[in-house]
Amino acid sequence: MEIIIQPTYAKLVAVSAEIVRDALLKKPNLVLGLATGSTPIGLYEALIRMHKTDGLDFSEVTTFNLDEYVGIPPNHPYSYHTFMETHFFSAINIPSENCHIPQSTAVAHEEFCERYEATIVAAGGIDIQILGIGKDGHIGFNEPSSSLGSRTRIKTLTQSTLEANAPHFGDSVDAVPKMAITMGVGTIMDAKQCLLLASGESKAAAIAHAVEGPITAEVPASVLQMHPRTIVVIDEAAALQLKRVDYYKQVYANKQKLLSSG
Ligand code: GLP
Repeated sequence: MEIIIQPTYAKLVAVSAEIVRDALLKKPNLVLGLATGSTPIGLYEALIRMHKTDGLDFSEVTTFNLDEYVGIPPNHPYSYHTFMETHFFSAINIPSENCHIPQSTAVAHEEFCERYEATIVAAGGIDIQILGIGKDGHIGFNEPSSSLGSRTRIKTLTQSTLEANAPHFGDSVDAVPKMAITMGVGTIMDAKQCLLLASGESKAAAIAHAVEGPITAEVPASVLQMHPRTIVVIDEAAALQLKRVDYYKQVYANKQKLLSSG
């Protein structure tokens, strides 16, 4: 795991946007795994700026979103379909047929989930999977106790996740859908690279467990320790409970030095 600690959210966003931009410049038909939540919003804004000012081209990009609530239509104001359209897709030049988001209204859920997995494989697999992290260490909607080998399926959300998402539903926990379709932990682990973003002290414990704790289904993000190419980009506040902060900063500084001398 590569741990990049930045002083502020703005810097975290800049570093992660550069990682995505560089990958896209190398591979114009990049396959991106996308996340919702407040954390990646700044990344999407930075990519939109790069599109508008530098002509960063998304015309050949394919995207797969991690998850979607079950039981609300795609055009619901708080659906992840609406979120992605508002915060990213409507502002870049990506063809809508290239954007894949789990269909919460699919009747045959199991069949839909299998097809979602097959579509990812047919696209050549995910090149970079962007991830946020829940306070309890969940990724996508893979709540604690999710199988570390799980595939796309329906999950019931924990009380903590319902509460965390209530602000998006008019501050009403009751209004938050109780279930979601989510890529599995195994699906996420198949991505060629994972880019986990976290900001703020409320994520410090989850980051410490995920990065330095034991690998356990109790903290689904901890399985990323087994992923050969995961980059964790966090701000100082999210790094507060990490034990090896100095070492991670030293590794990053050395890498920057090597890159600038090479
Ligand atoms: C939800 C999403 C996750 C996201 C998490 C944290 O549970 N399904 O993909 O990582 O929220 O969101 P935020 O970035 O708003 O803290």
